[in-house]
Amino acid sequence: MKIQIEKTGSYLPSLVIANDDMATIVETNDDWIRTRSGIESRHYTSGEPTWFMGAEAAKEALESTDPETIGLIVVTTVTPDYATPATASIIQAEIGATHALAFDLNAGCTGFVYAFDLAAAYLAAMPFERALIVSTETLTKLTNFNDRKTCVLFGDGAGAVLLKKTDANDPSGICGRFMGGTGEGAEHLVGEAYEVNHPFLQAPPWPKRFPDHEAGRTFSMRGREIYKFAVQILPETVMRAVAEAGWAIDDVDLIVPHQANARIIQGAAKRLGVAEDVMVEQIADIANTSSATIPIVLHRLVREGRLQRGMRVVLCGFGGGLCYGAVAFVY
Ligand code: ACO
Repeated sequence: MKIQIEKTGSYLPSLVIANDDMATIVETNDDWIRTRSGIESRHYTSGEPTWFMGAEAAKEALESTDPETIGLIVVTTVTPDYATPATASIIQAEIGATHALAFDLNAGCTGFVYAFDLAAAYLAAMPFERALIVSTETLTKLTNFNDRKTCVLFGDGAGAVLLKKTDANDPSGICGRFMGGTGEGAEHLVGEAYEVNHPFLQAPPWPKRFPDHEAGRTFSMRGREIYKFAVQILPETVMRAVAEAGWAIDDVDLIVPHQANARIIQGAAKRLGVAEDVMVEQIADIANTSSATIPIVLHRLVREGRLQRGMRVVLCGFGGGLCYGAVAFVY
């Protein structure tokens, strides 16, 4: 038995914010943003909630598939609309996947790849036919629009991937994976959630876990630290998954990394010695949508016909946590 990607979907809100628009709210300019990050514009929600974007992407990935064949829904997000229910439960109801177990997973920008790994292992162990992964992020909820160092980098959007069990003889399927994390670097990207505040609280406030951040409920990021981590971990993680698949790097047709910064992606392509058309870089009009970038780009590649059955592909996520992971598969 093998696990393969059956179908994909995505949702990008129609509101497009160009670099010149960002320059009207903070001291920045199109040239700085393009040169440092590769970003030209980003999509922002016009009020669509995180669950809605995820449900739209899920519906596109499902198309005519019977939702009752789905045994697992994993939603990855750092920006849910509710603490409870999980976003996955809302999407479950929206698509009518009545037999699925559904929950959310937060692993920052690595969420999609972790969910992919988890869903594949679950499908292999359980008598279900399909699993659905939905990555949906409204990063504008966590964006500090007074901080030019971070606000220009993020966007909103969702992507979805339907996984299916196939026969062992099927040429498509997962061949290798490598996941990891290093919590020591957690302080490099912080955004606070709920505070302790009940009517009987008497003790002085507990010391902050990340005292150097004045993040509050918006992102506080040490960009340089994350950059250093990313340029090293991206090629390393890709190579580990490729080795586990028993491939050489030259066997790989497409590498789809998390879209955090064009320079990180281009640097990784150089270190791996792969051509520009192998390392997929599509950050220009989507910006960093955290865990949603990989499935959004995957769906685009399918739609454009650039991703064809039989191709050898590596997906690689990295970011807040700090987490990282890669999956190698034949599409
Ligand atoms: N417009 C104009 N100038 C700016 C802007 C801006 N938007 N932002 C910063 N600057 C200025 C700084 O103030 C600084 O000026 P100074 O030298 O006078 O102090 C100068 O530009 C250089 O700033 P740096 O922060 O050193 O710029 P750098 O080249 O490191 O690029 C960036 C910053 C793009 C954030 C880069 O560090 C990066 O991409 N890091 C990785 C970030 C990342 O991937 N984060 C997400 C990972 S986790 C996740 O995906 C959720």
